[in-house]
Amino acid sequence: MMKQLSSFLLLLALLHLCTRTSGQSSPSGASDVTSVLRKSGKFTTFIGLLKSTQMDEPINSQLQKTSSQGFTIFAPTDSAFSDLQTGTLNSFTDEQKVKLAQFHIIPTFLAISQFQTVSNPVRTEAGNDAVGFPLNVVSNGTQVNITTGLVNTTVDSTVYSDGQLAVYEVGDVLLSPGILGTGAPAPAPLPPKAKKASPPNSQAPSRSTTASVISSGATGLPHYAPMVASIGVAVLAALSLCL
Ligand SMILES: *[C@@H]1O[C@H](CO)[C@@H](O)[C@H](O)[C@H]1NC(C)=O
Ligand SMILES: *[C@@H]1O[C@H](CO)[C@@H](O)[C@H](O)[C@H]1NC(C)=O
Ligand SMILES: *[C@@H]1O[C@H](CO)[C@@H](O)[C@H](O)[C@H]1NC(C)=O
Repeated sequence: MMKQLSSFLLLLALLHLCTRTSGQSSPSGASDVTSVLRKSGKFTTFIGLLKSTQMDEPINSQLQKTSSQGFTIFAPTDSAFSDLQTGTLNSFTDEQKVKLAQFHIIPTFLAISQFQTVSNPVRTEAGNDAVGFPLNVVSNGTQVNITTGLVNTTVDSTVYSDGQLAVYEVGDVLLSPGILGTGAPAPAPLPPKAKKASPPNSQAPSRSTTASVISSGATGLPHYAPMVASIGVAVLAALSLCL
């Protein structure tokens, strides 16, 4: 009876395992934008912005595709955010936060050497609008300057670069007329303080106990040959369901 039960459990465990592994493809740690940023420890506000505007997930899923052109991200440090006028970020509407996040993301991988030849203004995720969202990048080979019409700053270091994803640290938050709602073709009125910073969703993946179920089932194996055979059948059945 115990043997039968353990073989049944083994079958269940295998089925569970195969639905789990075929059902989800977790992003490889190498090109996950938030974990890249988290590693250096000084981009907490920017990570929060990417998460609350849900810009991180499409980037990560694009990076999984071989057809992706990659991404270049200008990441302002926490001190860059605290250099903003007090309450700036909190006064932004959700739409402004999305534009702000998008303006820091170029939907192409650009190695640092490519900034010497890039054509300005550089198109960002915020669009091609040279009045509302002008991102101009000028480099002499070692120094990279960025101007937006409202902000002059420099690339301070390369945080990450793997041919698909490039993350550069910048010393200032890249504001533009289109983000602030000034001088844009269709200016949105600056609303009064809307304090709706949604908390970053922290969903820890649930751990399964599959492995321990399998090993405890397997300890009952060696005694009876017929049992081994029936477990073998169960395994084959489970595997065929995976295919
Ligand atoms: C970057 O800006 C600084 C300060 O305005 C300037 O001195 C420097 O020449 C600029 N570098 C490049 C590569 O444009
Ligand atoms: C680029 O500009 C910086 C600052 O102006 C200077 O220190 C550096 O030598 C320049 N590099 C080249 C290759 O001209
Ligand atoms: C940025 O640099 C340009 C050219 O050097 C200058 O005219 C402008 O005033 C600067 N803007 C800011 C906000 O510092």
